[in-house]
Amino acid sequence: MKLSVIGCGYLGAVHAASMAKLGHEVVGIDVDAQKVALLSAGQAPFFEPELPEILAEAGQTGRLTFTTDMSRVADATVHFIAVGTPQRHDGNAADLTYVEAAVDGLLPYLNADHLVVGKSTVPVGTAASLAARVAETGATLVWNPEFLREGFAVKDTITPDRLVYGVPAGDAGAHATEILDEVYAAAIGAGIPRIVTDLSTAELVKVAANAFLATKISFINAMAEIAEATGADVTQLADAIGHDERIGRRFLGAGIGFGGGCLPKDIRAFTARAEELGRGSSVAFLKEVDAINLRRREHAVTLVVDGLGGSVVGKRIAVLGASFKPHSDDIRDSPALDVAVRLHGLGADVVVTDPQALENARRVHPHLHYELDRDTALAGADAVIVVTEWDEYRRELSPSHAASLATGRLIVDGRNCLDPAAWRAVGWEYRGMGRP
Ligand code: UGA
Repeated sequence: MKLSVIGCGYLGAVHAASMAKLGHEVVGIDVDAQKVALLSAGQAPFFEPELPEILAEAGQTGRLTFTTDMSRVADATVHFIAVGTPQRHDGNAADLTYVEAAVDGLLPYLNADHLVVGKSTVPVGTAASLAARVAETGATLVWNPEFLREGFAVKDTITPDRLVYGVPAGDAGAHATEILDEVYAAAIGAGIPRIVTDLSTAELVKVAANAFLATKISFINAMAEIAEATGADVTQLADAIGHDERIGRRFLGAGIGFGGGCLPKDIRAFTARAEELGRGSSVAFLKEVDAINLRRREHAVTLVVDGLGGSVVGKRIAVLGASFKPHSDDIRDSPALDVAVRLHGLGADVVVTDPQALENARRVHPHLHYELDRDTALAGADAVIVVTEWDEYRRELSPSHAASLATGRLIVDGRNCLDPAAWRAVGWEYRGMGRP
């Protein structure tokens, strides 16, 4: 099939390359000429495992091209909207400027043979208002939310947990469903569940999923706070409740909490939209989810300050991690970098290391000290804090090796990813999040 993908960020670039890998002919469009140049040369503009390989593979077939020229959408009949919907500067709502611009840019090229497929995360009701504009051209608009995780984006795109199609009622919806089935023929052939809904349900499925995940993380972080007041161990608690299949162990990792370009802004946008709908009280708990999450960053800072005797002024602190999670170079709303910035603000001599995210971190926080080499970051440190659970810190850093480099013996485990006994055995003072 001939597809266009508008917006070539984490979502769009991976979607474009994955669709080309599946055999479709794809043109990816973005306003950022530098990004387009990199993608055209087969290079990923950000770190995402497997993306360079599929870009190279699809590039060789000639089925995948990238451009800044919107008129190239005329080469396709199915158009994916994959632009960002960040938090607005003036409040919690989502900024729909890029989605509106993408649809406006498409309109001149649409006719009754075309299908517009929204993938961006949008407030419920957005698709219905855009559908009216698209319908004037004779084309149909559907919403097909994306559930990919950064770090596993290619796998999640090619073999998703489920497909959700939000389509209009009647023949137009049935026809759109047939077209999407053809786009996703490989996934459907593999038995991946597909749920066909109306537009509002599809939009809500996405924000509800992210709200649930954020709530699950803040739930366990709330339990960590109770554990801290009682001497209990939240990781054992999570293991124990996680054995109940109704609860499940995944996303019960207590620590410095969630960040990234999705969960934080999505729960805020959901709250703002619910308030507009007069249903603010239905999701008022998401404000608490947000508040618990932000408190945990501060708690990690407090553990360092207390562990160093009440002040970090002039103390060298090795911060292991900058990205919002491992397998990513994304630093958007990164709890890890936030902790580093707070410690720096308290007068500490902070040294940040990360295997992938330093370039992005330096761009946003040029005043911090960065070291790509983990051991250089550890050398002479009065305290060490792990804030992103990369294997380089979780599995590959032995407590005795760290002890041979650092001056102090305080290790704060902001992700509860280390073995306390192993660190204590060689003389470290180990402090976890919600662990005795
Ligand atoms: C999230 C969702 O998981 C995807 O399904 C969704 O498609 C995506 O947002 C999106 O809306 O585009 P992502 O932002 O890539 O994906 O990251 P997650 O793996 O969900 O992690 C989010 C944050 O939660 C990270 O900072 C991670 O460190 C934190 N986390 C995760 C915890 O603190 N504890 C856990 O147990 C799990």
